[in-house]
Amino acid sequence: SSHTERSMMSLKNKVAIVTGGNSGIGQAIVLELAHRGANIVIDYVAHPEATESLERQVAKLGARSIGVDADVSKLADLRKLIDAAVKSFGRLDIMVNNAGIGRDRAMWRMADQDWKDVLDTNLSGAFYCTREVAPYLRAQEYGKIVNIASVHGLRSEFGLSNYCSSKAGLIGLTRSTAVELGPSNVNVNAVAPGYIRTTRLTEQVPAEILDRVRERSTLGRLGDPQDVAHVVLFL
Ligand code: NAI
Repeated sequence: SSHTERSMMSLKNKVAIVTGGNSGIGQAIVLELAHRGANIVIDYVAHPEATESLERQVAKLGARSIGVDADVSKLADLRKLIDAAVKSFGRLDIMVNNAGIGRDRAMWRMADQDWKDVLDTNLSGAFYCTREVAPYLRAQEYGKIVNIASVHGLRSEFGLSNYCSSKAGLIGLTRSTAVELGPSNVNVNAVAPGYIRTTRLTEQVPAEILDRVRERSTLGRLGDPQDVAHVVLFL
């Protein structure tokens, strides 16, 4: 987009947390936020070297970022994450609940742990993050929360009972949070992407499923992380 559009949408002095921010869709969101001049907290649980390289890219774009190793399913980690954001940048404006995992399995083979890990990360993680940032956003009567759901929160395919349940739950959480925080001028939205290429999540999807997705898609291709990031930045 043009320079004028970019400066109109400036997020200078705004502070954003992106969970699962060092890979795939999260990384694309971090870079878009950096283009708009936001201060960014990159939450991640693995691949610290990817976080460091992303921090350098953010700096090249003239924005500031810090990486924080915090598991969204662990409340103690989240408190550390939010403290780090407020201590480093002095405020909190934007929460992007992007961290997510898949443990695809036919439901009759799905172990308790496959169910629990996916629900804990994709749904409970977003709930905890939202609850913990809510007091800051309510107090300043300004804030944006964007939850990365999925087309699989709206319909399903084989082997996704845990993932679909988590994403459908996340859409419900988004609606409830929007109702409760709306009066405090805090906007809450969910994005429901289809299959997105070049992320760790789609690396695990069988090639024949991706071929079928490509055939059925309106654009004749999988989405790019940037496609999702642009929608998130609009919200
Ligand atoms: P990815 O695997 O490339 O990135 C996921 C990120 O989440 C990684 O940085 C990972 O370290 C982090 N993460 C995992 N568990 C975590 C935890 N407990 N605490 C903190 N961070 C954690 O995956 P991708 O594709 O970029 O996915 C991002 C989001 O987009 C996920 O919520 C996913 O469900 C959703 N999505 C992805 C689609 C796709 O086709 N790739 C389609 C629709 C939604």
